[in-house]
Amino acid sequence: MSGAEEDVEVEREPGAPAVAELDEQTRVRRDAALARVRKLGDPVLRATAVAVDRFDDALRAEIERMGALMSDALGVGLAANQVGILNRVLVYRAYADDPIAALVNPVIEWRSDELESAEEGCLSIPGVHVEVERPARVRVRARDAYGQETLVEAEGLQARVIQHEVDHLDGILILDRISREARREAMRSLREAREGVTPETRPARAVVAETSPA
Ligand code: NI
Repeated sequence: MSGAEEDVEVEREPGAPAVAELDEQTRVRRDAALARVRKLGDPVLRATAVAVDRFDDALRAEIERMGALMSDALGVGLAANQVGILNRVLVYRAYADDPIAALVNPVIEWRSDELESAEEGCLSIPGVHVEVERPARVRVRARDAYGQETLVEAEGLQARVIQHEVDHLDGILILDRISREARREAMRSLREAREGVTPETRPARAVVAETSPA
């Protein structure tokens, strides 16, 4: 109810407190972290990340930094593109009690035929949340920070987050996974979030000029 800030929904845990309910320190830390995440319009988000072939201390430091940034931003997932690095690295923590997991060179080698629809946000597209349909379960082959092969069988939010982040590594955003109509609506929310328009100050729908998504 309290303005544009409340609209800034990100890749957050379900049940996480609303932004307005965060204590000052958490909020300041979150805003600082969000400021470091590349936003829609930055070409790095449209680039394809490159497979990692050196599992060294530099990679582990990068993973560490990404995990900390994701955590500070109150996100559930973050892909390297989002911090301007074109390595095929993602971190995620679907549930608050889980440790932060990192997947290097992830490959989704199996997807269920069964699809599930749920609302997603993206740290790179603040103010936008859209219904995205994805396979309900996936099996992902990847390497860990030390190059060890790992196999992840995921469902529910974990499966969704991994698919969202793997999309990032391929330059794909949630806006590409929705209908043209939903994309127009999302772009409108985005524009309003940038302009600080709140639901209370939003003009009647009919007088809002629609522009085509880029
Ligand atoms: Ni995202």
